[in-house]
Amino acid sequence: MSVILELTKVTKRFGGLVAVNAVDLRIETGSISSVIGPNGAGKTTIFNTITGIYKPEEGDIRFDGQTIVGMRPDRITAQGMCRTFQNIRLFHNMTVLENILVGAHTRTPSTAWGAVLRTRHFKQAEEEARQEAQRLLLYVGLPRGLGDQLARNLPYGQQRRVEIARALASKPKLILLDEPTAGMNPQETESATRLFRKLRDDLGITVVLIEHDMKVVMGISERISVIDYGQKIAEGTPAEVRKDQRVIEAYLGRHAESTTISMH
Ligand SMILES: Nc1ncnc2c1ncn2[C@@H]1O[C@H](COP(=O)(O)OP(=O)(O)O)[C@@H](O)[C@H]1O
Ligand SMILES: [Mg+2]
Repeated sequence: MSVILELTKVTKRFGGLVAVNAVDLRIETGSISSVIGPNGAGKTTIFNTITGIYKPEEGDIRFDGQTIVGMRPDRITAQGMCRTFQNIRLFHNMTVLENILVGAHTRTPSTAWGAVLRTRHFKQAEEEARQEAQRLLLYVGLPRGLGDQLARNLPYGQQRRVEIARALASKPKLILLDEPTAGMNPQETESATRLFRKLRDDLGITVVLIEHDMKVVMGISERISVIDYGQKIAEGTPAEVRKDQRVIEAYLGRHAESTTISMH
């Protein structure tokens, strides 16, 4: 089995807080895995560190055999890694299709002069990108006519799909999804889960999810890594993780703590 993404002893601090503490992670090519853990455990920070938003103070991150530590986010995207955000980051005053086209930007080799002069080559590339964006819109399960609507007018569940379409427009090998079913009802969650599986089964994209919905996590993941207070405390198949005593304690412990906090 080849490994597409490998984190070795990755540490990310914010001042005195060690948000990610010497985390090792190996993601096999073509797998579906999940990163889980209580709120504030450091999951999003791991994604932010992988995608170049933060530079880790220590450790190495290798993508496709090459170290990506210190590489700019757009360069990492161009290498074939894309993501969605826990808090949806669409351009709200742009249409759905325009938002998807933003994702294709790293792939469209249009020079500034091409845009100014509107050369035949430029117009052709632009038209092809639009058609591809339209295909992606349908692929993620959005209705055909939606492309011209403003992103902000879409319900939450559809906005999440637009984010996935935008991520796919960069033609990724690996997609990182940060809480992609947050705010969805059970039907939307189920249909989104089918889409995540399709990304791997049809398109061969390696999928890594941060997910709080245990039904989704246990149903879709081949491997689960559990993070608590910035550290990886357990790892394995859903069956292994579910009965791991440290995992049970991490969830129950944090739950008791939040109950206490809410009482004050
Ligand atoms: N940019 C930042 N500056 C300071 N602290 C941060 C920053 N981002 C995250 N943190 C802190 O790091 C910890 C982990 O946060 P996060 O990765 O968002 O957790 P999770 O995604 O698991 O809920 C939290 O204590 C959070 O407050
Ligand atoms: Mg998070």
